[in-house]
Order: sequence, then structure tokens, then C-alpha cells
Amino acid sequence: MDMRSNDTIFEVGSNARHFVKKLIYIILLILSYSVSYAQSCEVEGTYFSTFEDIKTILDASDCASCHANGNTEADWSYDDYTSFIKSGSCGQPMIIHGNAAQSYVYEVLSAKDDLCLESSSVHKLSAEKLDQIESWINHGAPEYCLPLYPEIKSIFDANNCQSCHNQSSDMWGYDTYADILGLDLSNSCSDGAIIKIGDAFLSLLYDKINNDNQVLCGAPMNGVSAPLTQEEISKVRDWINGGALESKSTLPVVLSKFNTQDIGESILLEWTTEIEIATDRFVIEHSETGRDFEPLAEVSSIGSSDFITNYNYTDDDPSYGENYYRLKMVDLDGSFTYSNIRLTRLQKDAAEMIISPNPAVSSDRLKVTWYPKRGQDQAYLNIVDPNGRSLHRKIIFEGTNYVRLPALIEGIYYVIIEDYFGGFLLERVVIIN
Ligand code: HEC
Ligand code: HEC
Repeated sequence: MDMRSNDTIFEVGSNARHFVKKLIYIILLILSYSVSYAQSCEVEGTYFSTFEDIKTILDASDCASCHANGNTEADWSYDDYTSFIKSGSCGQPMIIHGNAAQSYVYEVLSAKDDLCLESSSVHKLSAEKLDQIESWINHGAPEYCLPLYPEIKSIFDANNCQSCHNQSSDMWGYDTYADILGLDLSNSCSDGAIIKIGDAFLSLLYDKINNDNQVLCGAPMNGVSAPLTQEEISKVRDWINGGALESKSTLPVVLSKFNTQDIGESILLEWTTEIEIATDRFVIEHSETGRDFEPLAEVSSIGSSDFITNYNYTDDDPSYGENYYRLKMVDLDGSFTYSNIRLTRLQKDAAEMIISPNPAVSSDRLKVTWYPKRGQDQAYLNIVDPNGRSLHRKIIFEGTNYVRLPALIEGIYYVIIEDYFGGFLLERVVIIN
């Protein structure tokens, strides 16, 4: 056999390998498409998630072994909606309806750095799953399909509320959308609003019907003639938490795309809407922590459209490290919803490490924030004593990392980060006990 035929055989082999690689790639692509989860709630052509959809995601993420079917690690489970929204052992409000950034469950699942307990890798969800949970919270985290005003009105009609609350009584009524909000009504509970949009628990209407045997003032309104069912009560709660939407025209804008990317020293934001009804503007909000957002700029909407519209904005002055963005999508009537949050890390030309606390107690967790040079995302971290002995070694990632210190006697130690290209950073840490 001469070299040439040998070459040919080799080539055929390599082609076959290419083919297999391609096939595996295609299979992976198909698999990754089939893991996107259903949004089973359809309102006037726009799709939203219900609690059942969210449960399906959590079940598929192996959360059940610790947090469902009677398992309540950290005193938190998602067996039903009520236990899902209840605080666990961290005592943080699990959901702030309409605001994922402030919701503890979102922080846990996006592996943010200020958890009360030690978070672990089991809590970091994939971007797609997190996106869906985030949208759900931003739309009020409803248990059932997001209701509109006509559905709420028919629930009250079916329960005979109109026999006392009608136009001829001078009490609160719900004949029109303006009536149900009770804005120009001095209600009998002076300091409680009839409806506090986005917060059922602070709304007199929900307080009156929720059947918990406690009312802020006056009498409970459930059971006068036809007691509301648990599902009806929950729908009223969902409606208020989801923004007390009136009709199709007040449905929140749903983005079909929202991306942010590092384009040198600036960050480019691009988003796409498919349907816009009475949208006024997009307020671009920025944060370095993912929690406290500040308005950065405004982009006006083209108004109403039923075709695809692309928008963009360039942030010319981002900070090094983490840049979180979200859009506040404001309607002509002033109501708004938030988009999902996007994170872009701006990398420096030189790496940087920040350690806290310093001095530290040896039972502390050390917070090591690492901003690598462009093009790098992980490195080794070493804790070394003054004699150069390595006491602890682990892989860390770009951004914030937590390192549990080994038991150390008081003294001076060094934290060394060595990247995969031979670069290293060194920082002195003082241990006090
Ligand atoms: C191996 C068990 C385990 C798995 C799997 C797990 N968790 Fe946890 N979870 C814990 C423990 C333990 C804590 C409390 C300590 C901590 O934060 O590490 C916790 C805390 C939490 C909290 C905070 C509760 C509080 O105290 O306020 C939430 C929310 C949570 N987990 C949700 C989830 C979700 C959602 C999933 C699935 C993606 C999940 N967990 C997977 C064990 C687990
Ligand atoms: C038998 C008559 C009657 C029926 C039926 C009735 N209500 Fe009432 N409702 C009242 C009266 C009287 C008040 C004022 C005194 C009070 O707050 O207890 C009131 C107060 C309220 C308030 C507070 C308004 C304010 O200005 O303080 C709300 C909200 C309310 N009802 C909702 C409902 C709903 C929802 C239903 C149907 C599930 C309902 N009511 C059924 C008689 C009724």
C-alpha cells in the first residue's frame, strides 16, 4: 500500500468522523429545542405561564427531591402555590409580584451573591428556564391564567355582589373598570386602597373576600349569598398581582428578543417587539448588582403596531465587571411592566481581584471577585501561607466566588489567582480569630 492510498483511507475516515460529529450536533440541537417549556396560558394571542408551567420546570430541574412531595429543605416547598410564595428559612419575601429583580426565588435561581444561606450549584438554572420564571414573576406570578377585568366582573356577578354593590347604592361598585378600582371613593377603611395594583395583600377588595376570617375593617364579603370558590378567590388575587389589567389593549408588551453584548468599550442593547398596543416608551435601566436598578435612558416606542419592530440603544459608559440591564415598558396610561434582566460583563485589559472581608475570621466565607483579562473566564485560586505552602486550591469563575476558608491560625496569608495563560494576581489576607 503506498502513501497515497493510505492518505485516501485516512480522508474517508475523517469525513466519516465529520459526519458523525455533525449528526451529534444536530441531535443536540433538536434536544436543546425540545427542552423549552410550554406556556399554557393564552390571553388574546399572547402566551403567559401559569404556576403549573413553573412547577413543570422545577420538576424537570430536580428540585423535587429537596423541595416538593413533602420534602421541605430550608422550610420551603413548591407543592402548591401557597407554599411556593411563602418565605422559607431565610425569611425573605419569595416573590415581589411584577418585579423579578427583587424576588428572592429569582436571586436563588440566578445564583446571585447575597443569599442568606450558602447557595450551591443545584440552584443555578439554565438561562432558558430562568427566563421563563422571570417573565412569570414580571407578569405578577399568577397561579392561573392571567385574568382581565371582564373575567373578574363575571366572578362577582356569579356571586351576587351586584345585589348590594350596584349603581343605585352609593357604595363601591364594579360595573365599570373605573368603578372597580374605586379611585374616587372614600372607602370605609380610611387607609386601605380598594385595589393596590400589583399587591393583592394590601388591597381591601382581596382582604374582604379571601376567606381568612380577618378583615381590615367592616365585614367579610365572602359567603353572603354564594361563597366564592378557592379558585375564584385566587383569580381575583392573580388579577390584582398581575397589574389589574382591563382589556386586551392593556396587555403588557412581550418582547420576542432582548440581547445585550459587549462591543468593545460599549454595550449594545437590542430588542424586538411583535405586537405593541398603546406602548409609550422603553426606559432602559442599569444596575451593577442585579437588584437596584437606575434609569439610564429612554427610547420612544413607535406606538401601536402588529408587525415586528426592532429597537436598539448603546450604553457608551458601562462599568467594568457586571452590567445588568432591564427595560421598563411604559404604556400611554402610565402602567408598566419589566422585561427580563440581561447581564453583560465588560472585561478589562488587566485582570483584577477584590477580596472581602479582610481581615477575615477563619470560619468566614471569603468573597473573591475576579475580573479577568479579556477572553478568560476561569482560573485557579490558591490560599498560601507565608512559607509558600498551598492550603487550599479550587477553580473559580469570572465574577463573584465564595471560598470557604480551611481552619487557619491567626496570621498573614496570600490569595493567589493563576489563570490558564500564566498570569497571576496576589492579595494579602489577614486572619483574625
Ligand atoms: C440537594 C437538595 C436541593 C436541591 C436539589 C435544591 N435545593 Fe433549594 N435548597 C436546598 C437547601 C439545603 C437550601 C438552604 C441552604 C442553601 O441555600 O443552600 C435551599 C434553599 C432554597 C431556597 C431558599 C429558601 C429559603 O430559605 O428562603 C429556594 C427558593 C430554593 N432552595 C429553591 C430551589 C429550586 C427551585 C431548586 C431546583 C432548581 C432547588 N432549590 C434545588 C436544597 C436543595
Ligand atoms: C348583602 C349586601 C352585600 C353583598 C351581597 C356584598 N356586599 Fe360588599 N359591602 C356591603 C356593605 C354594607 C359594605 C360596607 C361595610 C363594610 O365594609 O363591611 C360592603 C363593603 C365592601 C367593600 C369595601 C368597600 C368600601 O368602600 O369600604 C368591598 C371591596 C366589597 N364590599 C366587596 C364585595 C364583593 C366582592 C362582594 C361579592 C363577593 C360583596 N361585597 C357582596 C354589602 C354587601
